[in-house]
Amino acid sequence: MPVPFLDLKKQYASIKSEIDAAVMGVIEECNFIMGPNVAAFEKELAGYLEAPHAVACASGSDALLLALMAVGIKPGDEVVTTPFTFFATAGAIARLGAVPVFADIDERTFNLDAKKAVDKINSKTKAVIAVHLYGQSAEMAPLLAAAGDKKIPVIEDCAQAIGARYENKPVASVGDIGCLSFFPTKNLGCYGDGGALITRNPEIADKLKILRVHGAKPKYFHKFIGINSRLDEIQAAVLRVKLKYVDGWNRRRKEIAAEYDGLFKGARGVSVPYNAPYADHIYHQYAILVDNRDAVLKKLNADKIGAGVYYPEPVHLQECFKYLGYKKGDLPASEEVSSRILSLPIYPEMSGAEVKEVADAVMAAL
Ligand SMILES: Cc1ncc(COP(=O)(O)O)c(C=O)c1O
Repeated sequence: MPVPFLDLKKQYASIKSEIDAAVMGVIEECNFIMGPNVAAFEKELAGYLEAPHAVACASGSDALLLALMAVGIKPGDEVVTTPFTFFATAGAIARLGAVPVFADIDERTFNLDAKKAVDKINSKTKAVIAVHLYGQSAEMAPLLAAAGDKKIPVIEDCAQAIGARYENKPVASVGDIGCLSFFPTKNLGCYGDGGALITRNPEIADKLKILRVHGAKPKYFHKFIGINSRLDEIQAAVLRVKLKYVDGWNRRRKEIAAEYDGLFKGARGVSVPYNAPYADHIYHQYAILVDNRDAVLKKLNADKIGAGVYYPEPVHLQECFKYLGYKKGDLPASEEVSSRILSLPIYPEMSGAEVKEVADAVMAAL
């Protein structure tokens, strides 16, 4: 039986009447930008993430850029982050003329090795970005302690981790600013691009609201050089419907992860995801480690079993970052994991039979 990597149509079918009504409501009102749905969604999202402020924007990539702008990152500043992430994390740093400083990951969690990240903090460091990859929180306490001592803001890239918790606190509310993506494939995805920022700090929240409208306050009077990054009303209306379901969907993802763990128990050549004791993992991805990853991927795809590689090349080795001077071998855990990582289908509407089909296909492909 073929199993797709993701099936968004099944999710839409399960909430179709609510979504259709919400979208049609926006179209009938013809109030498409910064209207009542965006304002209501910001409130609801802040409540969900147990934070006083949420500021919606156009994408997760913009959220990262806006966060760095809000804390005043300038050309030449250093920002410590992980090389094992989606490009946007480091791209936002470089776009501001700042220098991404990569610390290696913990091979078990695939997230920043907190000790190695702390070692990279120096007098030029002006921010740290921790990424909660695949839906599992990075280890935050050592980062917060080291950065807090030096008054360096800690930004969380929560693009893959809405609803995940660190020491029982929702990610995005743990550091100084949390960045979210609502790209359609995310655990909370809209029907286009979307993003948001979460903060406890009212001054940062105000600055973010100004920065997302070209730095204008009041309109046409520009306090800062900002960007145009707004969430539109249709996306906000979709997200308001879907936010109510995200915890249930995340619970089902955890069940599927446990089913996979059970099916792979004792299988030689498969390393299942490690769940750190401080993290409530919401399995945006179920990512295993295998040898001969590319051959396994090819075999799975030939058998019509969806699988993907996030990410095949760590960011410090990307061509566009050659100028930073990193070479192969500098960050060995990230490089090793990039060569062996493989994501399997995981989405709330998957059946137990489909999970078993995928696990059997993986074991046959090893
Ligand atoms: C870890 C991470 N950071 C940032 C982003 C960027 O989000 P967006 O695609 O909404 O710009 C993504 C999304 O792909 C991501 O996975």
